[in-house]
Amino acid sequence: MTFDKNFTTYDNNAVVQKKVAATLAEYIKTDSSLFKDLNKVIELGCGTGIFTKEFLSKFTPNYFILNDFFDVKEYLKNLNYNEFIQGDIEITPFPKADIIISSSAFQWVNSFEKLIDNISASTNNLAFSIYTKGNLKEIYEHFNISLNYLENEDIYQILRKKFKNIALKKETITIEFNTPLEALRHLKNTGVTGFQKTNISKIRSFNSCYLTYEVSYFICSI
Ligand SMILES: C[S@@+](CC[C@H](N)C(=O)[O-])C[C@H]1O[C@@H](n2cnc3c(N)ncnc32)[C@H](O)[C@@H]1O
Repeated sequence: MTFDKNFTTYDNNAVVQKKVAATLAEYIKTDSSLFKDLNKVIELGCGTGIFTKEFLSKFTPNYFILNDFFDVKEYLKNLNYNEFIQGDIEITPFPKADIIISSSAFQWVNSFEKLIDNISASTNNLAFSIYTKGNLKEIYEHFNISLNYLENEDIYQILRKKFKNIALKKETITIEFNTPLEALRHLKNTGVTGFQKTNISKIRSFNSCYLTYEVSYFICSI
């Protein structure tokens, strides 16, 4: 994870993450069971605030806590929030909240189960987007490099241990680039790493102008 080195280029390149953030905010808005009581909200892995902005365009929580692994406060200056808690979402104890939200961050954790154990100690409601098995298949097929993306079924089974009601929707987003190198540059600028460490001929032989994102949206309550 090299987000701290890439935060300055992230916003201009994060087209998919922006689309995902907008879809998640809309999905939460349409779920009337969660919509009623969102006074205290915690967002995990807020980064430069792409999803934070989307969320704030639809909701006005009384108390809004933002979190990230890195100290990203300088990117959040124009956003209306109350508190920033820096720390690893798998182990940081969070205060009680009406809902925990997160977009495009949970695929980075080492143990999704540990994450859900930690989150469910603080809230009865959870809404998030996550990239799943098959994400960036072009990168995996050529470089044999991938995060440990989970299947929707694995995610569902882990969530089921803590939440009774679980709604899920899936989306495949394909983006096209002018050249394969442009596709790789796009990934580097959004903090997706690994392939840069391979040799130059492997990079040159990458021949896909497409990147495919597999994303799922979950809304859970007790
Ligand atoms: C792809 S960015 C998404 C940022 C933002 N939520 C958005 O929608 O654009 C993932 C963010 O999750 C954060 N992150 C990844 N693993 C984390 C962890 N274990 N604890 C806290 N933050 C984490 C990264 O630092 C990064 O800011």
